[in-house]
Amino acid sequence: MPDLSDFREEYGHDILTKESVHPNPVEQFRIWFDYAVSQKITEPNAMSLATVDEHAQPWLRTVLLKAYDDRGFVFYTNYDSRKGKQLANNPKASVLFPWIQLERQVIINGEVERVSNSESLKYFSSRPFGSRLGAWVSQQSSVVSSRSLLLAKLEEMKRKFKNGEVPLPSFWGGYRVKPKTIEFWLGGKNRIHDRIFYSRREDGTWSIERLAP
Ligand SMILES: Cc1cc2nc3c(=O)[nH]c(=O)nc-3n(C[C@H](O)[C@H](O)[C@H](O)COP(=O)(O)O)c2cc1C
Repeated sequence: MPDLSDFREEYGHDILTKESVHPNPVEQFRIWFDYAVSQKITEPNAMSLATVDEHAQPWLRTVLLKAYDDRGFVFYTNYDSRKGKQLANNPKASVLFPWIQLERQVIINGEVERVSNSESLKYFSSRPFGSRLGAWVSQQSSVVSSRSLLLAKLEEMKRKFKNGEVPLPSFWGGYRVKPKTIEFWLGGKNRIHDRIFYSRREDGTWSIERLAP
């Protein structure tokens, strides 16, 4: 059995300073995201999404970032899923991009709102046929007695929508995480990592601070 206490990497190929980052964290995210894409890491748009239930218990899962701009960071899911119910009750989330290969992580906290129906429809229509069917097949996060039941439902939906036109389910769509804080973390030599932390002020401008690693 490997000794996990010996697992460690030496970081520090780059540095991040308050002066070198973009004043707007969404633009800074764009710079890092484009870099992550250029480095061909697996699914750079995969992010861990934390939501909190009515007992203050956090829950995590991976979702895919599908759009972002100054308004926020958008992912798509089933509104009746566990995360959907938690967001209905407590519309706040934390998301984390674990770009470990690049010695980087980005953490975004903020309030969450549903995207417009037309935005969801536009994205849904762009998905492949199988993915659109999948949205209809699965009552995400509910207990299901068997895999074969899901496959039977898939066949049923294939027959139902055999003309290729799959409508947007009312229970499916996007959420936008509206950032209040965004932290950029970069691994440094001797554990002197860089943490550049943006906080959104009331007037929409951003403060930038360095946090101790
Ligand atoms: C790489 C990866 C990408 C995923 N992307 C999504 C996604 O974009 N939307 C989604 O609803 N679930 C996605 N999932 C599945 C979720 O992690 C999760 O299982 C599902 O959304 C149910 O979560 P919940 O029960 O907490 O609501 C993805 C899983 C992985 C591993």
